[in-house]
Order: sequence, then C-alpha cells, then structure tokens
Amino acid sequence: MSGTSDGSRFGARRLSPRRRARCRWDRLAPAPRGRGPRPACRGPSSCGWFRGSGAMSPQGAAADDLIFYVNGRKVIEKNADPEQMLLSYLRKRLRLTGTKYGCGGGGCGACTVMISTYEPSSKKIRHYSANACLLPICCLYGAAVTTVEGVGSTETRVHPVQERLAKCHGSQCGFCSPGMVMSIYTLLRNYPEPTPEQMIAALAGNLCRCTGYRPILDACKTFCKESVCCQRKANGKCCSDQEDDLFDKEEKVSTSLFSIDEFQPLDPTQELIFPPELMRMAENQPKRTLFFHGERMTWISPVSLDELLDLKAAHPKAPLVVGNTGVGPEMKFRGVFHPVVIAPARIPDLNVVKYTEDGLTLGAACSLSVAKDVLTNAISEFPEEKTKVFCAVLKQLRTLGGEQIRNVASLGGNIISRKSTSDLNPVLAASNCVLSLASRGKKRRIPLSDIFAGVGNNTITPEEILVSVHIPHSRKGEYVCAFRQAPRRENALSITNAGMRVLFEEGTDIIKDLSIFYGGAASTTVCAKQTCSALTGRHWNEQTLDEACRLILKEIAVPGSASGEKVDYKKTLIISFFYRFFLEVLQSLKTTDPYHYPGIPVEYGSVLQDFKTKMPQSIQIYQDIEPDQSPQDPVGRPIMHQSGIKHATGEAVYIDDLPSVDGELFLAVVTSSRAHAKIVSIDTSEALKVPGVFDVISAHDVPATNEFYYSDDPEIVFARNKVICVGQIVCAVVADSDVHAKQAAAKVKIEYEVLEPVILTIEEAIKHNSFFEPKRKLEQGNVDQAFETVDNIIEGEIHIGGQEHFYMETQSVLAVPKGEDKEMDVYVSTQHPAVIQEMVAASLGVPANRIMCHVKRVGGAFGGKLLKSGLLASVAAVAAKKTGRAVRFILSRGDDMLITGGRHPFIGKYKVGFMNDGRIRAVDVNYYINGGCTPDESVLVAAVSLLKMDNAYKIPNLRCWAYACKTNLPSNTAFRGFGFPQSALVTETWITEVADKTGLSPEKIREINMYKENEQTHFKQKLDPQNLIRCWNECMEKSAYYSRKKAANEFNKQNYWKKKGIAIVPLKFPFGLGTRYLSQASALVHIYTDGSVLLTHGGIEMGQGIHTKMIQVASRELNIPMSSIHFCETSTTTVPNACASAGSAGTDVNGMAVKDACQTLLKRLQPIINKNPKGTWNEWIKEAFEQSVSLSATGYFRGYNENMDWEKGEGQPFTYFLFGAACSEVEINCLTGDHKNLRTDIVMDIGCSINPAVDIGQIEGAFVQGIGLYTMEELKYSPEGVLYTRGPDQYKIPAVCDIPEQFSVSLLSSSQNPHAIYASKGIGEAGLFLGCSVFFALRDAVTSVRNERGLKTTFVLNSPLTAEQIRASCADDFTEMMTNNESASFTPRAISV
Ligand SMILES: Cc1cc2nc3c(=O)[nH]c(=O)nc-3n(C[C@H](O)[C@H](O)[C@H](O)COP(=O)(O)OP(=O)(O)OC[C@H]3O[C@@H](n4cnc5c(N)ncnc54)[C@H](O)[C@@H]3O)c2cc1C
Ligand code: FES
Ligand code: FES
Repeated sequence: MSGTSDGSRFGARRLSPRRRARCRWDRLAPAPRGRGPRPACRGPSSCGWFRGSGAMSPQGAAADDLIFYVNGRKVIEKNADPEQMLLSYLRKRLRLTGTKYGCGGGGCGACTVMISTYEPSSKKIRHYSANACLLPICCLYGAAVTTVEGVGSTETRVHPVQERLAKCHGSQCGFCSPGMVMSIYTLLRNYPEPTPEQMIAALAGNLCRCTGYRPILDACKTFCKESVCCQRKANGKCCSDQEDDLFDKEEKVSTSLFSIDEFQPLDPTQELIFPPELMRMAENQPKRTLFFHGERMTWISPVSLDELLDLKAAHPKAPLVVGNTGVGPEMKFRGVFHPVVIAPARIPDLNVVKYTEDGLTLGAACSLSVAKDVLTNAISEFPEEKTKVFCAVLKQLRTLGGEQIRNVASLGGNIISRKSTSDLNPVLAASNCVLSLASRGKKRRIPLSDIFAGVGNNTITPEEILVSVHIPHSRKGEYVCAFRQAPRRENALSITNAGMRVLFEEGTDIIKDLSIFYGGAASTTVCAKQTCSALTGRHWNEQTLDEACRLILKEIAVPGSASGEKVDYKKTLIISFFYRFFLEVLQSLKTTDPYHYPGIPVEYGSVLQDFKTKMPQSIQIYQDIEPDQSPQDPVGRPIMHQSGIKHATGEAVYIDDLPSVDGELFLAVVTSSRAHAKIVSIDTSEALKVPGVFDVISAHDVPATNEFYYSDDPEIVFARNKVICVGQIVCAVVADSDVHAKQAAAKVKIEYEVLEPVILTIEEAIKHNSFFEPKRKLEQGNVDQAFETVDNIIEGEIHIGGQEHFYMETQSVLAVPKGEDKEMDVYVSTQHPAVIQEMVAASLGVPANRIMCHVKRVGGAFGGKLLKSGLLASVAAVAAKKTGRAVRFILSRGDDMLITGGRHPFIGKYKVGFMNDGRIRAVDVNYYINGGCTPDESVLVAAVSLLKMDNAYKIPNLRCWAYACKTNLPSNTAFRGFGFPQSALVTETWITEVADKTGLSPEKIREINMYKENEQTHFKQKLDPQNLIRCWNECMEKSAYYSRKKAANEFNKQNYWKKKGIAIVPLKFPFGLGTRYLSQASALVHIYTDGSVLLTHGGIEMGQGIHTKMIQVASRELNIPMSSIHFCETSTTTVPNACASAGSAGTDVNGMAVKDACQTLLKRLQPIINKNPKGTWNEWIKEAFEQSVSLSATGYFRGYNENMDWEKGEGQPFTYFLFGAACSEVEINCLTGDHKNLRTDIVMDIGCSINPAVDIGQIEGAFVQGIGLYTMEELKYSPEGVLYTRGPDQYKIPAVCDIPEQFSVSLLSSSQNPHAIYASKGIGEAGLFLGCSVFFALRDAVTSVRNERGLKTTFVLNSPLTAEQIRASCADDFTEMMTNNESASFTPRAISV
C-alpha cells in the first residue's frame, strides 16, 4: 500500500481518543464584508453532536476533523457523517434555514448555495452554485460555503440581488427565492456584468411554481450589461418606442411595476472574501488522505492515484463519489447503501486538462462545467475543422442538467455510470473518445465505443477507475453531431439522445467510417454497429438514408420496459435524429463542394437550428391611479410583497424553519403499496429496533375520529382494515430524527390480501358504475330537437391528464402538546386553519377550543393544502398526543406527490350540432373526472366544471352531465381553477373542431358564438359580456393577431420541418363559491398605544400577496402609512371559523372584513379627531386610550348572496365575472415534437386592481402553470396504480426555458366591479386557463403540418400536448415506419387514468 502525501499510511495513524463531538460554532450571522473572517467560536456549542465511539475506518484510521467555512465562519466538525448532506447540516445543525428543501434530488434548485474553493497552483478561487441537498458535507473540506444568510440580511445589509428580486416582485410564496438569489449571486460573483444568456443559463436549474419567472428575470436583467430590448420588431420598433402603440392614448396607464432608481448598486468589493485561513491551509498544509466515519458509512478521500488504486483494490464495491449526483439519488431514492465511499476529487491526475497533438484530455473528476468551459475555449482557439467533436459535446453539455448539477457532476461519473440517459456517452463514443483506465499495477486505454459496441475487452472491472478521457480533434471530411430530446428543453433527462459521426473518403461523399450511438433506447447507450458497417462504402444520398432508417430500426430494439414507455416516440426520434444528421452533413458537404453537393432544400434549412432559450421580453400595462389620490394611499399601486425582502434573505419562516421544540420527535409515514387490499398484518418489530425510534402510530391510536364523513364515503386518517389506494397512510413512525424515522418506516412490513375490483381509470370506473354521488346535470333549451335541425354534427372525446400541485414547500406540520388542558398548538402549511383545528380536535376527541392552529405563511398551495393538510395534521397530532412530545411531520417530495393527489384527470365526451355558417346550436357533453379513492371535493369540482363549461359562449341548447369517478387512486382535490381549466378546454376543443369542419377559422367560430349582449348563462344567471368583448378586441389588436397569423402562414410555406401556430382564446371566469356562508370573513385589528397597528384576518398568505393587500386596505381606511401596520400570523385563536383561502376569494372577502374593522375603529376615533383635526395619529390614539376608547375591533363580512338549485338547474352561484383573452404563438419542430413559446399577449379584466404588481403576478404565474397543465406536466401511473412521477426528475413543471420569449399582460382599463372591495376582482385562478392558448397554438401548427401533408383534418389532441403527441400528429415517413412495428404489442408501462 502506498503512502499518503504526508507520509502516513492507511492504518498507521493513531486513533485519537474519542470525545464528545463538538462543533466549534456560534451563531452564523454573516461575518464582516470586505475583510478577513472573524475567528471561529472557541466556546462550547449547543450544537455538539455525539455519535458514540468506534467510528474507525476499515483501515482503522481515525476520523479527521472536517474543516470548512460557512458565511465567513469556520466550522470544525469532529464527527462528520458521510451520509449527511449539506442541506440538513445547514438547516438542522447550523440553524441556517434560509436554504430550502424542495425535492432533495437536485431537481428544483431551492437548496442552492455557493461553494468557493481555492486552487493553490493557479492561485484561483472558484465560485460555483451547487445543490446542498446532494452535497455530502465531507466533500467540503477546505471549501467556503455561502448561503442566502451570508449574502445579506435585514439585520446587516440587504444585498442588491435580494433587494431587486423583492422589489421587482420576483417572490410570491417566497419558497424558491433563496435558491434564486444564490444562483444569481454566484453568477455575479464570477461575472459582475453578465450577459442575458449567462443569466438565463444560471437559472435553468431553479424552479418556481408561483411567479411564472417573468418578474424574477426582470430583476436579473437589471444586472445585465447589454440592454435588453424587446426585439419586438414586427413594426420595426423596440418595446420602448412601441409602448405608445400598445395602449389607448386616452387612458392613463403605466408600464412600470418598480423603479430602478431605488436600487442600490452592485458593489463587488462588499462581498464576503474567501477565508484567508483556507488559502493558507491549501498553500501550506501538505495534502493528506482524509477519513470521515458516520453511523453507517466511511468516507475516504485520497490525494494520490496510487492510494486511490489501492483503496479501490481493497474496496472494489465502493463507489467513487465526486459530484454525488449519481450515487446520491441512488442512496436516497432507491435504497442503495454503500458502507465505504471513496472521494477522488483531490487527486491531480483526475483533474488534468491537457491539450495534446490530436485533441484534449480531461481528467475524470473534472466537473461538467469545467469541461464546458474548456471546450468553449478550445473551440475559439482551434480551427473549425478540428473542433467538430468539441462542438457536439458542448452542445449536449449546454442543456445537461442545470448549472448547479453541471458544477459538481463529473465527466467520469457521467461516463462510468453508463446510464441510458447519459447525454455524453453517445457523442463521446461516436467520436472515438478514449478512456484511460487504471487499477493497481495496470493501466490501459480503451475507446469508449468498445464498451457500448461490445468490442474487445470492453468491461471495466470493479477495481478499475477512470483517470481521464481523451476527446480527439475532428478530421477533414469528418462530421459529428449530437442530439437530445427531453420532456423539457433544459434541466431534464433525455427521452432519447444520440451521437453520430461520419468520415468520408477524401474529397468524396463515400462513407469511410460511420458511428451511431443512442441513449434512452435500452438500459445503457447502444450502438447501431451493423447499420454502420452495412453503410460503409455507400454514398451520402437518399438511398443511404432509406436504408439507414430501415437498418437502424431493425437494429436498435426499444423494449417496452426499457425506461418504460414512449416506445414509438423513441423509435421515431431515433430515425428522426438520423435524418437530421443526414441533412446536417448534406448541408456541410455543400460548403466543401457546392457543385457536386447542392445541399438541402431551402425549406428544410430551419430544422438545423435548435430552439434556444432567450431572455424573454415583457411588458405589463395597468391603469394608473387617479392624480388626486393621496400619496400615502397605497391602493392601486404596485406595492412590493410584504414579505418580499424576507423571502429573498431567507428570513421568512416556514413550518420546517421553526426552531426545534424540546424533546421534539420526527414522523415518517408508512404507506400502502397496494391499490385495493385487505390489511392482513402489520409487523413493526424490525422498525422498533432502529435506533432512536420512539413508537409506531396507527388507526388504533386515534383517540376519536379516524374517518371523517363529509359525505357518504369517509376521508381517512390511517387505513384501518383495508387500503383503497397506493400511497394511503397505514401507520407512522416517530423517532428522534427524520433519518431514523424514515429508516424505521422502511422496515415496517405489511401483509396484504388483494381485493377486487381494482379501479384505476375513468373507463374502469364507468364500467363498474363507480361514482361519488350526486351526479350533476344542467340543461337548457331543447337539445334533442336542435340536433335534428342543425347542418352538421360532430362527436368526440378528449382526455385531460391530472396535475400535481408541486407547491415548493411540501406538506408540513408541527404539533406541539402544551401539557395542560389537552391544549395543542398546531403549526401547519395550510390554506384552511379552521378545518385543521376541526379535524385535529375531532381526531383527538377534544373541543376545538383546545387546538390552536397557526399559519404564518405557506410556500405555495394552489388548492392542495385544504382537506389533505387536515388529515396530515391529524396524523401528527395523534402522534403528539400519544407520545406527549412535539411531533414534526414534513413530507418528502416523493411522499407528497404519492400521497396527496392533485388536479382531476378528466374526460370530456361531446356531441355538437352546428350550422354551416359556424353557429353552434346544440351541445351534449358528459364530463368524467377521476376523483380517486375518497370524495374530498370531487363532486364540487364536477359541479363547477358544469357551471363554467360555457366559457365565453352562448349555446342555446345545452345538456351537460358531470360524474365524479370513484377509483383506487390517491384522492384528487382542489386545484387552481377547480374543474374549469378542464371543462373549458373541452369546450375550446369542440369549438376548434367546428372550425375544422366548417372551414372557418377558430377565432371566427369563437366570435360567432361568443356572448354578445346582456344574456343569461345556462343556469339562468344574468351576464353582461361587454368587458369580454373588450378584452377580446384589445387582445386581437395588441397581439396584431391577423398580421401575425399571416406571417405565421408565410413562415409555414417556407419551412417544411418547422411550423408556427397562433391561437387566441377568450375567457369568462365566474367568481363565487355558490353559498353565502363559504364567503364570510372576519378580521381583527388592534391599535397599540404607540400608534402601531396589528392586523389579522382569516386569509392565508400563500404567495398571492393577501397580507400585502390587506395592509393596503387598512392603510387606506385608517389613513396611516403601511409601515405602521403589521401582520403577524393567521390563527384560529385570533379569527375563528375562517373560511378557506380558496377560489380567488381571499382578498374580496377578507378585504371587506378588514375594511369593516378599520371603519369601526375610525368611527370610535372620529370624535377625538374632530376635536383635534390637526393632531397626529399617535396623539389621537393616546387620547383615545386615555378616554377609555376601545382600540381593538373585529370586522365581519357576511359573504356573497350566492345560491344554486341543482334540482331546477338554476341559480346565482356567482357574484361577478372576470374576463380576459390570450393570444399565443409557438413554433414546433416536426422532427422531434419540440416547441418554443414565442409570444403571448394577455388582456385581463380584473376591475380596479388593488395592487397591479401582485395581480399581474397572479395572472402570469397562473398562465405558466396552465402551460404546464396543457403542454408538459404528465403524471404516470403503473398498471397497478403506483405513481411513478414522484419528483422534479420525472415530473416536469415549466422552467425558465418555457415562458414565452415575448410576454405581455395588460389589465383592462376603466373596469369597475360594484361587488368587491374597491371595485377589484379576485384574480387568483382565472389566468390558468389562458395557458390553453399555447395548446391551441400548437394545434394550429400541427394543423398546418397536416394540411400540407394532406392528412385528414380531424385529429384528436389530448392534454398535456407533449412533444410525443406533437411528433406523432406530424405524421410523415418516419412515423409511418412505426405503424406496423412490433412495439405495438408491448404492454405500456404507464396507464392513462
Ligand atoms: C438533477 C439531475 C439532472 C441531471 N441531468 C442530466 C442530464 O440532463 N443529462 C445527463 O447526461 N445526465 C444528467 N444527470 C446525471 C449526471 O450528469 C451524472 O449523475 C453525473 O455526471 C455523475 O457524476 P458525479 O460526479 O456526480 O457522479 P457520482 O455520483 O459521484 O458517481 C457516479 C458513479 O460514477 C462512478 N465514478 C465516478 N467517477 C469515477 C471514476 N473516475 N472512475 C470510475 N468510476 C467513477 C462512481 O463509482 C459512481 O458509481 C443529472 C443528474 C441529476 C441529479
Ligand atoms: S432541494 Fe435540492 S434541488 Fe431540490
Ligand atoms: S415564489 Fe417561487 S415557488 Fe413560490
């Protein structure tokens, strides 16, 4: 065994005496800026962490101290546990809770931190962003970590990034904000004046579910050097000159939501410096092998190649961990465990970057970002002919993962893990890259292609490690391409990818050497070896192409179970990629000899350009306040979110940020693995043996209510004798840590006896007549008679998939027994504290007055934190009651997605009768929603889908039924829009089909059938559609619809493989909750003797800015500045019986209550004010107190007078209507199905906006969520009812790359609403439906493909309209080749529910 660099040998170092582990640590307030760090705290620490003794490595070496810095403070961790990730270390050990947990798997960016390292040889400091959730603390030796707290705080200085994010309204719920701040901050540390491209790339790995990204990007743009003009060149003007044309000059409108003048400049000299001590350590201390031992795992970090080879020989099964982006997710999510890991990142041989005669050698531990930078440089330095391989590899690297992943993931890790989804292996293998492998006493070099092509000695042995990768220069006559298609263009694993290379005989188009490799087809990268040899010697022409496609299809088997599904799509991609390669090469040949090689037809040219993410351009237009409005009156102004700065500094507290309570326990649930089964037995014996486990809780422990009957079928806390879906909670483990609780939960054994039937899909529910009652029906006119008189009838069906809420903060509860009178404090991330109180009290069998539910803020909810949160709170409360301890219950992302259900999958079956002139006379529709296993709100969702199904159209004869199907899926629930986004999509679908049939355009059919004058809806409620028509016309005008449609048609004529599509969709969104009592609201306002005001009401802040708006209301009513008013929390102790914050109603109803309370107070103060009109607020309050005037008042709003008689099918279930219209334009790539959202223009009537920044934010955020629903978010269930898609790696919500390149939102001016506070309208939900304008624009593009190809006009597109569907609908020779393919016989891995 070779020695370490400090001369010691493994096992030769003496074991230091075990002692109680101490972390030298004090509070991690940011250290001073611009100078050296403060010395480390020497005193004893409260976060000492005892792990017991005996943690020796397999070599017997003692554990090293792990030394690193966090926010300028030194951390010495005596017992660093290799299993501990930085995220939990920061949050639990260091109490730095600004860094958030969103997914734990590197997919959301909520946990982004900046890592800084110093390289003594180059004397360079490297700053890079990383996901703390995948970063083992052990790899931080000698590094400096900066978290959001270290960037700035309200206590010290708010950093410009934090300030601008908040002031540009880039935070709503705020849960993603710290991660966003860290990504932007890190970029600015490296590039203080970044380009827009760098900025947008830096955010590719950060998800936000609320804002729709536009305001976040607005904040980013303020740091970019280049001016970012809108490039809206349709009329030759840019956005700034064009504003004049965008709105009516009569109206006084504004286009600015924030003022740049307010921003502090970015001053790089103010940043935390790299700790000098770490520099000294790196410079002076010889590098030596480090050992860290955890409870179960040992981490060894050698510093020389020899040591590494010895270690690998001793532990052939131990993985080499560099970025941990492969090993980490395997251990976290797939139950893989490694007792020993080896971290080779510090070994120089594995970090080489060497230019050689024939190419470039990169060490295997080089991060993908380093590889990307090196290749970028090389491309600029070497002649083009030599860099074709570099370009192809770089192309893959640009979209591989997000920046945080690329910064840590290693080249070697990507290659060696040989995952089918590796984007690098196909291109590296095709390009003849060579791997340098080493094992003890042996070195060899093998072409990567040998591994996948099954050539020679092609297996890498467990003892072998990859030292470096050689990427060769390309040669004359050689062409290399790489392709990938993923569910989302950025930060998503490929569905299929490819690397292709051809070398021609000199001066000819005769194939001398051809290499084709694919990823995504089988379990690893595969080579089309036979195809390549069969084609060698052939000319590069159409015959070769035909032959190649045939051979490739034959050779590359895509088994149905490979990565599961999309078999036909993958096969289509495989040959479409080859076709694209064929075109690229033809085009390149033209440049060498245009005479012999004429290139490709002009109309094929555009397909060679990939879609790129550009910094979007946007404009927001809203009506200005009246000039005579008092400057102090904030109503109507774009006021920043009350918590905006706290979101951006990470100071905003969410449930899991609450400090731990003495003796607190952690809860993890055990869920059913069967969809419908009897529970035969539950064996908890193994679970109870896990260290730290306290108890297992089940239905038997529930003191009172375990089943809640809100209708015939119950909502269930713990499954009792049987389970009715996969993911149902059967029992729960409580332990001293979340790790122990989860470990133990995995050891609970449940025996089942399967019950029949298992109903998963809507079709199965129909077959078994399995519905929740009542079914709902509405009818007007005489439908049957009308069908007899119409010119045409169409019949059809559309399936709309469900949607996961994907709130960034997962469901969270902290239940704290108070120790007397059976009182309990319950802190819950919920939209409905009153229901939590009610359910917890009922479960515990205590009166509601013993349960205090508190909600400070919620990290996104969207309808998903109503009843579900109540059940979860009951689970935690029962555990707290049984153990007498506080219980913290934070769902992991995977469990959250598995357990809680989401938007209902939906089928609409329609029959539509219409005249040749486009008038629709009769509609008969049936809606089926997949309710899942318990009723929740499914019947109500079905009812609302009926009430809102007409969208903007008057249908004289209409019959519609809605059925809530009872199935064995997790119970679905409320989700923004509540049934409307689905039923209105069905409506717009048949509208479009009528257009297809009549030959009229969809917009004409829409106009012909739109509500035009005062009319009645199909349930006889009066409706004035004037503003609907105004929105439609304004949207037509602002979007320049007709001229752009013409331009799109022109583009389509000139481009064969790329097509544009455009669509405009109207919106009528009725506001109301159907019953008066559901819209009652209360508020409580206290004035203290110093004049400050404490406000509370029943509404929940979940990102929609309700507290900000309520403070605006109170400020106007009391005529005091907003700064004098504080909102603390929503609580059942201050406002009892509050209705849920749902249905867009929060501001409306709570605003009325706040106004009422303030007016009561003002009335009491009036005599004092009258007596001293020139007095100040504080004087009046003092006087009032001295006169014994009560300074506390409640306010109340009785609710809207709404009703619905379902027997008669008539009523006034709504109070008013919102209107809007959206026009979207897209471009599709017919070869891959990929698309780009080019432009969206939205016009929305929301009355008089109380806060235009908040309201526009709601519209944009909802719209982007709608894009997700209608075009990308796919939930996948196994035929057994198991949800596959349990995290951002499998379930793709829109990211920065998905928002329209041009995005404009205008609020309709001069709109009044007599029914709501200050003439505003509730806006939370309406905008989501407008996302379907993208769906119909895509349909338009597909239609133009089909028309051009003479395909039949009627075709069905379901939602989400994914790339797979688009590709299949753009039928061509390639899809034709699939028709009779064997794959048709495969059982699909996922079912459509
Ligand atoms: C959120 C996310 C998104 C991703 N997106 C993409 C994507 O779009 N495209 C894509 O291709 N990949 C993607 N990946 C995968 C990622 O690129 C790979 O996981 C990464 O490159 C592996 O490198 P690592 O250093 O993190 O490996 P580690 O997890 O540290 O190790 C992975 C494996 O490689 C082995 N290994 C590492 N180095 C060596 C060596 N020198 N010699 C021998 N064995 C070695 C280890 O033993 C281990 O088994 C994504 C991963 C995540 C988490
Ligand atoms: S929590 Fe780390 S990326 Fe999602
Ligand atoms: S503000 Fe981004 S997730 Fe809520």
